[in-house]
Amino acid sequence: MPFKTPSANSVYIRSVLPAEKDENIKRILDYADRNVIPVLLPETAAFLKQLVYIKQPKKILEIGTAIGYSSHIILGACDGHLYTIEADEKSFYKAGEFFALSGYKERVTAYLGDANEIIPMFSGKFDFIFMDGPKTRYIQYLPYLKRMLDKDGVLLCDNVLFNGMVSGEADMVKKKATIVNALDLFLRTIASDDDFITSILPVGDGVSLSILKDRSENSESVASGGNYTAKKEDNCL
Ligand SMILES: C[S@@+](CC[C@H](N)C(=O)[O-])C[C@H]1O[C@@H](n2cnc3c(N)ncnc32)[C@H](O)[C@@H]1O
Repeated sequence: MPFKTPSANSVYIRSVLPAEKDENIKRILDYADRNVIPVLLPETAAFLKQLVYIKQPKKILEIGTAIGYSSHIILGACDGHLYTIEADEKSFYKAGEFFALSGYKERVTAYLGDANEIIPMFSGKFDFIFMDGPKTRYIQYLPYLKRMLDKDGVLLCDNVLFNGMVSGEADMVKKKATIVNALDLFLRTIASDDDFITSILPVGDGVSLSILKDRSENSESVASGGNYTAKKEDNCL
């Protein structure tokens, strides 16, 4: 999102992060710049890339493709398949062109339409979900996304601090009150859901990172110390 003046921390971080080298991604960023299309901030892109690289998801859902910048970050960091949803027709087709140019078409299933209607239609499980669509809807999508996440699945949501307005760091712009209140409710709901392990990080415009706990029998017995018997040689503290 083209936003408030970046903080000194953000300016510094952006000056330290290396410039994008990938020609396909540079082309997308250039198009986004020229057409004022909101895409991930550089520090958020670096974080997303790192998370995907660590997790190596096989099946990823993205809400809010825009022209495919974050999709490219995801696809470049793993060999999984990306399912991505975009409501704006022009952005959707532009993203399709960029996927073709980058040779990613085989690894992408793109949906044109309203995520409100498309999300409830999915039946399979995902091991990584990146939510970067309509901010007022995060809270509405949450129960669906929770059901769609595989055990140990990751849910990353962008713009959750919304220009500092959610925390009160920045003054609330009156016409953004609905978004800000919806994001506040979303954060309080996901952070207090015991099925998730959640952190809220001031990366870029704020991200929430949630992991759906593995609630299988096996993992519960490990978590509660189930069958473990201490042996003398384990006493190494
Ligand atoms: C911040 S942009 C996504 C940027 C993209 N993830 C990136 O970093 O390259 C949000 C996108 O969500 C799309 N969007 C908004 N409401 C939507 C909805 N109800 N269903 C699907 N897409 C929606 C917008 O058209 C916009 O392209």
